[in-house]
Amino acid sequence: MQALLLQGLAALMLGLFLMVYERLFPVMPVSIGVAVILQGAIAAFLARWRNLAGWWWVIQFCFPLALFFALALQLPPVMFLVAFLLFFVLYWHTFRTQVPYFPSSAGVWDAVAQLLPADRAIRMADIGSGLGGLVLNLASKREDSEIIGIELAPLPWFISWVRAQFSQSRGRFIRADYADMDFSRFDVVFAYLSPAVMSAVWEKARVEMRPGSLLLSNEFAIENQAADLIIQTERMRTPLYAWYI
Ligand SMILES: C[S@@+](CC[C@H](N)C(=O)[O-])C[C@H]1O[C@@H](n2cnc3c(N)ncnc32)[C@H](O)[C@@H]1O
Repeated sequence: MQALLLQGLAALMLGLFLMVYERLFPVMPVSIGVAVILQGAIAAFLARWRNLAGWWWVIQFCFPLALFFALALQLPPVMFLVAFLLFFVLYWHTFRTQVPYFPSSAGVWDAVAQLLPADRAIRMADIGSGLGGLVLNLASKREDSEIIGIELAPLPWFISWVRAQFSQSRGRFIRADYADMDFSRFDVVFAYLSPAVMSAVWEKARVEMRPGSLLLSNEFAIENQAADLIIQTERMRTPLYAWYI
């Protein structure tokens, strides 16, 4: 949202500059190409001024150029609407949750399977289950147990639901915000979210999860909360953190 507002501010600043410039030098108009580069440069400068992460400066600079070239292709406008709708149902509330979709690896699924209590049936939730890979994998390994994926974004939820139907998996998928779920219903909660939400996840787990239950987080640790286990194997790109409640 900030990036979008900064592009708007950059457009205003550029508009003012061009008005003044064209009064001063009416015989030397600024070409559209130069205006586009100026727009990107101002937006990148504003991103720097607002202390946005370094990659935003690059995006801000390239965005007007990308727009310029995309318009030059004269693609049917409906393509942009379709692309927007596709991203909308895929990423949904990412601007609010700060958790985009990216999948965990098969190495992580195996490490999680190893940590699940083997002596009894359990109920486990993947909070933010994406396309459902982890849930489907664990449901096939633990037929005695209930493995549930909770996903907010409609498209990943729908794809995982379809995958479960086709593979006749016992894994279940619920379209919901995990913040509204009662964690006391689960013996194990797995999260692959983002650093921005881990403190809140810990607070919810600490208050709601039963003693002896297990909280797992792929890649993202919890600030000021040392993990009881940290697992990293050759097949895992990222560590898996575990806390026994
Ligand atoms: C990084 S992906 C992880 C996917 C999956 N758990 C895996 O390991 O492959 C995070 C997912 O969490 C979902 N998500 C983010 N915030 C959520 C929320 N509050 N409730 C439910 N799902 C959420 C996102 O839509 C995204 O699909």
